[in-house]
Amino acid sequence: MSFVVAIDGPAGTGKGTVTKLLAEKTHLINIDTGAMYRCVTLECINKGISTSDEKAILEVLKEINIKLEHNDGKQIVLLNGKDVSEDIRSPKVDSEVAKFAALKIVRDKMTPLQRKMGEEENVIMEGRDIGTVVFPNADVKIFLDCSLEERANRRYKQNLEKGIETSYDEVLNSIIQRHKLETEREIAPLVKAEDAIVVDSTNMTIDEVVTKIESIINLKLKEKNND
Ligand code: DC
Repeated sequence: MSFVVAIDGPAGTGKGTVTKLLAEKTHLINIDTGAMYRCVTLECINKGISTSDEKAILEVLKEINIKLEHNDGKQIVLLNGKDVSEDIRSPKVDSEVAKFAALKIVRDKMTPLQRKMGEEENVIMEGRDIGTVVFPNADVKIFLDCSLEERANRRYKQNLEKGIETSYDEVLNSIIQRHKLETEREIAPLVKAEDAIVVDSTNMTIDEVVTKIESIINLKLKEKNND
């Protein structure tokens, strides 16, 4: 049986960076489920399909082929054979993805794909519903949290570094709206699994978060090997 680590939590908690570093340290395969929802969104945007056109979305889902590969510590996302690692992070995808990810037809396709990935290999899987829906029996469940203000602060600084001009208030508002969409949606909302361990990164460095979760994973791996 495979070993599954579920890392859930809102955007802006450092989840992506933390999961990547943990995958390198623990040799678990990193699965970024957000990238999969981003692929569906990008394909629909490219085809001019809106969230209300379920028939057309179903056609896209029937044909879609998503591969997550890793090369020298870098994640490469292939959508129908094309490298879309950059395209799925565009502002347009950013603003549409939460709406596509809220659709039942989209989740009904992605969830089994994610389960299959976690059944075939030892994985550290990052998302919003991994410990609640995708792998309710995951070996380790972490809920990575952070205050809304600190999440906005981090995104605001990232934007400045990238030369994107936004005010702190704009960033905070967009984070609040996205948080609302993700936590209040009907299907697979972002909630902490009852048995998840909460790690609040508000006042922690990335290294501190990684060290803490790594020790939790190693303890569980030891227990499992002794079984
Ligand atoms: O982690 P991210 O920002 O790349 O996620 C992109 C979107 O997909 C975001 O709106 C949350 C959604 N998502 C989800 O609903 N379920 C997951 N397991 C992962 C991401």
